[in-house]
Amino acid sequence: MTNKQSLSSSPAGLAGVVAGSSAICTVGVDGCDLMIRGYNISDLAKYASFEEVAYLLIYNKLPTQLELSSFQRKLISRRELPKQLCQMLEMLPKDSEPMDVMRTAISWLGHIFPESCKQDLEQTQELACRTLASLPGVMAYWYQYNYGCGVIQTATDAPSTAEHLLALLKLKADDPLHIKTLDVSLILYSEHEFNASTFAARVCTSTLSDYYSAITAAVGTLRGPLHGGANEQAMALLRELRQADNPVRALKDKLINKEKIMGFGHRVYKVSDPRSDVIKEYSKKLSEQSNDGHWYSLSAQIEQTMWDEKKLFPNLDFYSASAYNYLGFVTSLFTPLFVISRLTGWSAHIIEQRANNRLIRPQSEYIGPGPKVYIPLEQR
Ligand code: COA
Repeated sequence: MTNKQSLSSSPAGLAGVVAGSSAICTVGVDGCDLMIRGYNISDLAKYASFEEVAYLLIYNKLPTQLELSSFQRKLISRRELPKQLCQMLEMLPKDSEPMDVMRTAISWLGHIFPESCKQDLEQTQELACRTLASLPGVMAYWYQYNYGCGVIQTATDAPSTAEHLLALLKLKADDPLHIKTLDVSLILYSEHEFNASTFAARVCTSTLSDYYSAITAAVGTLRGPLHGGANEQAMALLRELRQADNPVRALKDKLINKEKIMGFGHRVYKVSDPRSDVIKEYSKKLSEQSNDGHWYSLSAQIEQTMWDEKKLFPNLDFYSASAYNYLGFVTSLFTPLFVISRLTGWSAHIIEQRANNRLIRPQSEYIGPGPKVYIPLEQR
């Protein structure tokens, strides 16, 4: 028996496998809580700003008032996009997927501000700040160039990323509920231990590759509908069911047909996703403020039906869909918003992986044929 044959097989999708250790984030012992560097996600969403959480992830501590102000100034000063980047964005097809635009732009940033081979902590933190500051402008520039009207802005002196994003996309940047909802959503999406995109970033980092390669690997992984792409798919479901004569019946039919309902279920949480209740509350508040409460009430109907029929609960993506829709974001920008937030978590993991690196290279369980005699080409 070879070494390989003696290995035990892993569960499908590595479910339940502990693939490494990390001090960044954990799902609580009861399986329904989430802590980032020891802080409960509900407390962070309630009391902190996204910039505080970004600092916590990138610099490994909550900032003092002075440190926070200096961090905010740093982000503001790095928002302007290099001219070559804007020219590159103008060349991308109008019908590109915005997630592809984000991936390409991050890769392009790696040409303009390349990482030196030292790969030291200060440089990685600087690249994380630079990329975090640039991405709202990237998303807005490409979108406004193709679909907007008037002057395209990429930099504002708005103190928070949330206000900056709303201003760039000409949404309600002066509405406190809109700002708070986006800020909270950026906090909720910021970090989630060894999810698929973070793991992809760590695998890439473990080869001693550069910061931008790890982030582009993560973006490509996040893009899929079973991961970050679920918030856009959840909105598509809401639109579809809103057209149906009987939305509950239509949903039950989907379940009978074994369709996956995007925005429900989770690999790690088994009872509920602690982030869902938080964003649900904001979706509700926005629905009360808007003259179209239907997106929220339809979402609540879907949640109830999914629980009654399948005992499945909404994950963060489900109510994020109606919340983002109320904020006025077009659906194709939902997952790019997730990128802007999760960049902070990915950066924390790149830093952690580099601090104690060993190449991540598992083995597979071989299930192919046994040894075969090679038949020369002319005899086959
Ligand atoms: N809709 C319908 N059924 C679902 C479901 C969903 N969203 N999520 C899980 N299930 C069902 C599966 O069909 C399966 O049923 P079966 O045993 O009868 O075949 C069972 O629950 C287990 O699902 P599985 O896909 O094997 O679980 P997983 O741990 O591999 O998957 C997810 C976790 C998140 C990928 C899965 O729940 C899913 O695809 N959700 C929708 C996509 C989504 O919202 N992604 C964002 C995650 S934060």
